Amino acid sequence: MNTKQKELLQKTLDRIIDYIENLEDDKGVIKYKTPAELNEKFNLNSKIENDYNAINDDIKNYLTYSVRTGNKQFFNQLYAGFNFPAFLAEIIAVLTNTSMYTYEVAPVATLMELELIEKMCSFTGFLNGEGTFVTGGSNSNYMAMLCARNKKTENAKMDGLYSCKKLTAFVSEQSHYSFDKAANLIGIGVNNVIKVKSDVQGKIIPEELEKEIKQSIKRNENPFFMAATTGTTLLGAYDPIPEMHEIAKKYNLWLHADGSWGGSVILSKKHKHLLSGLNLADSFAWNPHKLMNIPLIASALLFKEKGTMWKNFSSHNTDYIFHDYDNADFDLGPKSMQCGKRVDSFKLWLSWKFYGNRGYEKRINKLFELADYFEKKVAENPKLELLAPRQSLNVCFRYKPSKSNININSFNLKLRNNVMQEGKSLINYGFLNKNVAIRFVIANPEVNKPDIDILLNNILNEAKKIDI
Ligand SMILES: Cc1ncc(COP(=O)(O)O)c(C=O)c1O
Repeated sequence: MNTKQKELLQKTLDRIIDYIENLEDDKGVIKYKTPAELNEKFNLNSKIENDYNAINDDIKNYLTYSVRTGNKQFFNQLYAGFNFPAFLAEIIAVLTNTSMYTYEVAPVATLMELELIEKMCSFTGFLNGEGTFVTGGSNSNYMAMLCARNKKTENAKMDGLYSCKKLTAFVSEQSHYSFDKAANLIGIGVNNVIKVKSDVQGKIIPEELEKEIKQSIKRNENPFFMAATTGTTLLGAYDPIPEMHEIAKKYNLWLHADGSWGGSVILSKKHKHLLSGLNLADSFAWNPHKLMNIPLIASALLFKEKGTMWKNFSSHNTDYIFHDYDNADFDLGPKSMQCGKRVDSFKLWLSWKFYGNRGYEKRINKLFELADYFEKKVAENPKLELLAPRQSLNVCFRYKPSKSNININSFNLKLRNNVMQEGKSLINYGFLNKNVAIRFVIANPEVNKPDIDILLNNILNEAKKIDI
C-alpha cells in the first residue's frame, strides 16, 4: 500500500467513524435529490484514473446522499438499524474476499455457516435438518418451490416438465411477490400460483386453501406446493402452520414457511407461538438481515430433511472445482444453487455471539412492545385510522383528511411522499383492499418510544400542511 492509499484509507476510516457517530444528528434520514440532481454529483466517465481525490469525493457524496438506514427515523423497510459487530465482520469478509464453494478457499466461513445452520435448525425443530445461506428470502422461496416441484415430479430435475400435468402452488393473497417469480423460474408459470383468501389480520383462511386445492384437482391439475407466510410484508400476519400442515399431508403438498420477515420471532419465547408447528414444515426461509439486523444480505433456507439440497441442487461435471479430497464433505458448493457465494456467515456469527440468544430475545420482545405502543398512539388519535388489527410488528394506518370530498388515497400518497422528501423520517406504504395503507414497521431495536413520537409528529405536521 502506498502513502496516498494509506492517507485515503485513514480519511475513509475517519469518515466512517464520523458517519456512525452522527447517525442521529439533525440531518435526518435522507437528503432527497432527484435522479437528475444526483447524476450531476456522480459521473462515472469523469477522469478518475489514479486520482485518489476523486475517490474521496465519491465516497463523501455517497455517504451524504444515501439513505441513512441506521438512523432511528428509518421505518421504510423491513430492515433497519446499525449493527456494530456485524459491520466489523462485513469489513473483514470483504477484506479477505473469498467464495463459499469450497472448504479450501473459505475454511473459517464454511465452518461458521455450518454451525449457524445447525443452531438455526435447533430453533425451528428440524432435528434432522440442513440448510444453506442464500441471496435472500426471494431466493429461498424459489429454491423451496424447486425442491417441491422435483419431489412431486421425480424426473423434472433432469428431464424438465414436458410430460407433466399442470403444477399448481398455493399461497395467501398477502404473500410476497417472490412466489410469482419463483413460479416463473421453475417453469410452472405465474398464473399457476393460486392466491388464497386471507382474513382481516392477513392470515390465510385454511378452509379457503383446501377449497382451492380441491378445485385445482377437479381441473385435473397437480397441486404440489403451499407456503405459510410467517410475517407478511404489509400486515405482519402469521399463517396457521398446523392447519396448513394437515391440508398439505392430506393432498401430498410440500409445506414451505416463508419467515423472511417474521422468522426471527422464533428467538423469543414470548412470541414464538406465532410460528407454532414450524417443525412440521418441509422448508423455512429465515432472513437474519431483517429482524436480526445483520447488514444485507444474510439469509438462510432450512430444510427438514437432510439430503434435500444434494438431491436438488447438485450438478455433474464439477471436478475442476469440487475435488475428491479429505475435506470434500465440508464443501458447500455442491449443495448450493450458486457457484460464487458471498461470505454472509461471519456477520451473523459475530452478532449472535455478541448479543446472544437472550439479547436477541430481548430485542424482539422490545420491538413487539414498540409496535403495540405505535398501534395505541394511532388508535387514540382521531385524525388517524387503523386499517387492520395488528398481529406482530406491522401497523397499517392512514390519515383522515378534514374535508370529506377529498380522495383519501391521493391524500395519503401525497402525505407519505411529502414526509419522504422532507427527509426527517422515512415510512413506506402499500395497498390494502385498494386503500393506501401507510405501513409502520419496526425492525431497529435501538428505537425507543420518543423516536416513535417523533415519527408520528413528523407525519402529523406534514399532514397539517396539506389538510386545508
Ligand atoms: C414475507 C416476505 N418474503 C420474502 C421477502 C423477500 O426477501 P428478500 O428481500 O430477502 O429477497 C420479503 C421481503 O420483504 C418478505 O417480506
